[in-house]
Amino acid sequence: MSETTRPRTLPRYSASERSNHWVVAITFILLALSGLAFYHPAFFFLSDLLGGGYWARVLHPYIGVVFFVCFAVLALRLARHNAWEAKDAQWLKHFPDVLANREEHLPEVGRYNALQKALFYVLVLSAVGLLLSGIGLWRAWFSLPVGVVRAAALVHAACAFVAITSIIVHIYAAIWVKGSVRAMTRGDVTWGWAWRHHRAWFRQMVKGANE
Ligand code: HEM
Repeated sequence: MSETTRPRTLPRYSASERSNHWVVAITFILLALSGLAFYHPAFFFLSDLLGGGYWARVLHPYIGVVFFVCFAVLALRLARHNAWEAKDAQWLKHFPDVLANREEHLPEVGRYNALQKALFYVLVLSAVGLLLSGIGLWRAWFSLPVGVVRAAALVHAACAFVAITSIIVHIYAAIWVKGSVRAMTRGDVTWGWAWRHHRAWFRQMVKGANE
């Protein structure tokens, strides 16, 4: 593509934000797959990803700590963009229009839409739940009463279920909204993508660039 036909782009994530996101994504996938291996014998083969049952059991909690710390850093960096606004509730009310690709009826979206913001809060809550219940289950370091360990096992499984289903939605949305993945690989998005999906953010970015 020549210089004149290349679409104009806007920066969305810095290299450090993208590296942060991908460390979170890789550690999350390792945790989800090794966690499923502990959960049911049908998934036990997945423990081979971390070197077999023994090593998976040893490494899973340490990877969990790396995940939590990196996720906390990412969440703190992005929290200000996820503040809930009145127009987000209105956007959610028009969700059938989003699914039908009739985005012209929707209020103009800022940097993130209401679903992205809701997923953000669900992930924050489930990450905290996973950390606290994970500590309860980490008997190599903490020896808590058996009742606490049992409750922690239940909370851990429930939070993992919520986090894994949310991430399936997150990945599906990233692929379904064409042009989104490059935001997290190359760090930028086209003007067309921003105008179509995040118009208020587009206006703000272009105005900022022209001032
Ligand atoms: C292979 C898996 C993944 C893919 C393909 C993916 C893709 C993406 C993409 C394309 C964006 C940018 C969306 C935008 O700017 O509009 C994004 C943002 C984000 N991703 Fe992922 N992601 C993956 C896994 C994860 C995981 C496992 C987590 C956390 C547990 C995560 C947390 C986030 C967060 C917090 C944002 C910013 C959205 C916000 O602040 O509301 N991602 N992801």
